[in-house]
Amino acid sequence: MQQPIQLAEQIYWIGVNDRETHLFENIWPLENGVSYNSYLICDEKVALIDTVKITKMDEYIQKIKQLIGEGKTVDYLIINHMEPDHAGAIQVVVDHFPNVKLVGNTKTFEFVKGFFGITENLYVVKDGDTLNLGKHTLQFFMTPMVHWPETMMTYEQKNKILFSGDAFGSFGTLDGGIFDDEVNLDFYVEEMRRYYSNIVGKYSLMVQRALQKLEGLDIKMIAATHGPIWRTDLGRVLGYYQDWSQYKADEGVVIIYGSMYGNTAKMADTIARGLAEEGVKNIRVYDASKTHISHIINAVWRFKGVVFGSCAYNAGIFPPMEAVLLKMEQIGLKNRTLGIFGSYSWSGGGVKAIQQFADKIKWDVVAEAVEAKCTPTEEDLQKCRIIAKEMAAKIKF
Ligand code: FEO
Repeated sequence: MQQPIQLAEQIYWIGVNDRETHLFENIWPLENGVSYNSYLICDEKVALIDTVKITKMDEYIQKIKQLIGEGKTVDYLIINHMEPDHAGAIQVVVDHFPNVKLVGNTKTFEFVKGFFGITENLYVVKDGDTLNLGKHTLQFFMTPMVHWPETMMTYEQKNKILFSGDAFGSFGTLDGGIFDDEVNLDFYVEEMRRYYSNIVGKYSLMVQRALQKLEGLDIKMIAATHGPIWRTDLGRVLGYYQDWSQYKADEGVVIIYGSMYGNTAKMADTIARGLAEEGVKNIRVYDASKTHISHIINAVWRFKGVVFGSCAYNAGIFPPMEAVLLKMEQIGLKNRTLGIFGSYSWSGGGVKAIQQFADKIKWDVVAEAVEAKCTPTEEDLQKCRIIAKEMAAKIKF
């Protein structure tokens, strides 16, 4: 169990690491685990900011009691977000500290009633409201849909700490270091983009609104509900969120294909080689049957160029690629450049489905789509090289 760690005078991180769960939200792989960050302010009034996943309660309650002292109570539980990875333990907190007041907005309390049937000891706050704890004053900012309708952020005025909920959070456990200057950020930035693109990205417009709302605030530390706490290079993390929520991308191309017998895969490799010959250095090739869609979404969010390929399957698109296209439509990623290829044996369907997808999502399509019959001919492969050439010309900065 990781001990509480001080953020500022009277303010502590009391989060937990989850290295056991395989899938976040029972969908997204947690190869590197995840942390659930909760915070405790031990002022004249004691305030908890968010809780942790219910499976970690023993460790969590132990940390709270260690800091406030046996027999003492928690006065307020600030609920920035009601998704159960942060709110699942509300009932347990209430059971341990029966006089605790739950602090949230009107939408928060619809969920509190729905999940727990709790309708008493509620303290309703609106945008800009403050709550004084003694030396520390908390101010609340409504940031709906980052990630649920009730989400809000809490700003601690004395030390200028923003408790930001899911925003700026990342997958990956906190293995010793918890601050941005204590860890290798390359690892967390990759996991942060994956968290953003998988969980929050669909609501990018609302992320933009939240960022605008926070613009005038003097922030010295960002303490999210997952991943490292930023206290040194805040411009970096705010910059990522600006870019990702505006669909800005790195120079590079991700090729994702579905292939049953290797013919579509051969075309994918030809396109990849063509891109390299054109000077593109960031090239990723993924087989949709093997690579989890979580990582595919992350790569597509990262790179400007996207090339989708599929074999035909029962006169339609190959199911793993169908899942990729459906997910892309759902999350509504914008401003990408698309190339299309595929193959078939006795009936087409894969390429046509990708073309229909392109019409709907309105990405910029390069070159003519190529669809090989059985094994791709030299002519087909030459068309693949044309996709690569035109793609490189479009995406190179
Ligand atoms: Fe980390 Fe939307 O919950």
